[in-house]
Amino acid sequence: MPGMYRALHFSDVHVDLPLGQFPFGTMFNKRFVGFANLALRRRHRFAAAREKLAALAAFARDQQVGALLCTGDFTVLGTHPEYAVAKAAIGDLLALDAPFVTVPGNHDVYLPDTRADDRFNHYFGELLVNDCPDLATEDGWPRVRLLDSKVAAVCVDSARPNPQVWRSSGRIPDAQLERLGAALSDPRLADRFVFVMTHYAPRRRDGTPDTRHHGLDNADELLSVCAGMRGAVLHGHIHHRYSLEAQGVRIFGAGSATDRGREGLWLFECTPQGIRALPGSWNGSGYVLEPSGAIEL
Ligand SMILES: [Fe+2]
Ligand SMILES: [Fe+2]
Repeated sequence: MPGMYRALHFSDVHVDLPLGQFPFGTMFNKRFVGFANLALRRRHRFAAAREKLAALAAFARDQQVGALLCTGDFTVLGTHPEYAVAKAAIGDLLALDAPFVTVPGNHDVYLPDTRADDRFNHYFGELLVNDCPDLATEDGWPRVRLLDSKVAAVCVDSARPNPQVWRSSGRIPDAQLERLGAALSDPRLADRFVFVMTHYAPRRRDGTPDTRHHGLDNADELLSVCAGMRGAVLHGHIHHRYSLEAQGVRIFGAGSATDRGREGLWLFECTPQGIRALPGSWNGSGYVLEPSGAIEL
């Protein structure tokens, strides 16, 4: 349709790495090996991640998507070989004529060593464009993308290393939240529908906050900052696709695009008349839309 701009939200692709390529001997400490074994038990769920990402690129091309919005968790354990494989696996998506906008997930910054060598930036730095760098904190976030004359994305980084094996929670630094508030009232975004992107879910599918060890520490603060905005919060982390409204904020969780049996995505159709969000899923050979579940914004 003329005048329509489409944005594809997907997440948590957790690209599989052949077991022999995991660098256990060089960079995993003993405590980590124990947990890595547990994490790797779920590998079979993501065994077809690369094939699905190629299919996702075909789907995005067919839909003439104008922007790819990925809310993190490219890897499982945040190791260098996983990053390299994940980067290759999204090659078809990167080759599309559409900006790839993203944030790190907790699995991408799994242990402090990923922060020490700025690993996410090393592999995905070319994607971390900021159209309004004056709005960012010293760490470079939030990152704003002016995607279309009527659409923008503002990315905040909620992921952090969790060396404790029982914990996978996150937090958006206070300074980023403050700047997010400034961005949402900035004249450059005034006439745009804004996708606020972060990895962690502000709410679970049933509307309750996620647990202390798995959730976003300052979910309520994020929702307060976003209250009243013309836009939506996009997240991943919870591997189920859903959408709900909380504290007056529309929230979309893309789930995981590649987790076997529960693959999900959202396609946003943006027109001057409004925004329509279409849920998508995997039918065994490709991604398909479920128009009956459309949400008008
Ligand atoms: Fe995930
Ligand atoms: Fe996650």
